[in-house]
Amino acid sequence: MGNDPLLFNKIAAAVIGALLLGMTAAFITSFVYKPKMLDKNVYSIDGGTVVASSSSTSAPKKIGPEPIAPMLAKADSAAGKKVAKKCTACHTFSKGRKNRIGPNLWNIVDAKQGGVAGYKYSGAFKKLGGLWSYEDLNKFLYKPKIYVKGTKMSFVGLKKADDRASMIVYLRSLSDNPKALP
Ligand code: HEC
Repeated sequence: MGNDPLLFNKIAAAVIGALLLGMTAAFITSFVYKPKMLDKNVYSIDGGTVVASSSSTSAPKKIGPEPIAPMLAKADSAAGKKVAKKCTACHTFSKGRKNRIGPNLWNIVDAKQGGVAGYKYSGAFKKLGGLWSYEDLNKFLYKPKIYVKGTKMSFVGLKKADDRASMIVYLRSLSDNPKALP
């Protein structure tokens, strides 16, 4: 340091160069990018109620937690049985038991969504018709009301991935013929 008589000039040149580059870039961008106004308001506001104008479908949305598959091999079904205490106010888990506020959950993995015999599902549930894959259960149990909008399952959901993983392997164990782990 200090032995280069041109050091100051070099630094000045670098700073000016950077400034010029930045200005040029900003100049070019102002041509390339012309902000466009939306034709329509995205939200129509009428008398205080705000209605999203994009049509929302009732299909399950692509939101939710991280994939559960990688966690299932290490998950503990006994721990899941404990987590299931949060569900027993509304659900039975053993084979042949009655539906309560919610349907009996024996053999639910890979079963038809909303398909338990003799249970009166909500309109939202009747529209589902897919199968309860591990990932669907993961998303549903994370936030039931968001995954199935309009469900009558009033349960906040299992926030912790560990709880969902153990709950799901517990559900998997409740079958004469447990589905293979992913
Ligand atoms: C307050 C009551 C309540 C609690 C607590 C509750 N559920 Fe439910 N559950 C329901 C109801 C009601 C439905 C049917 C939803 C509908 O028809 O909209 C349901 C549906 C389900 C379904 C879909 C079943 C099918 O046939 O498609 C699964 C899976 C499920 N619950 C799992 C759980 C688990 C696991 C827990 C605990 C972590 C839990 N639920 C806690 C009331 C509850």
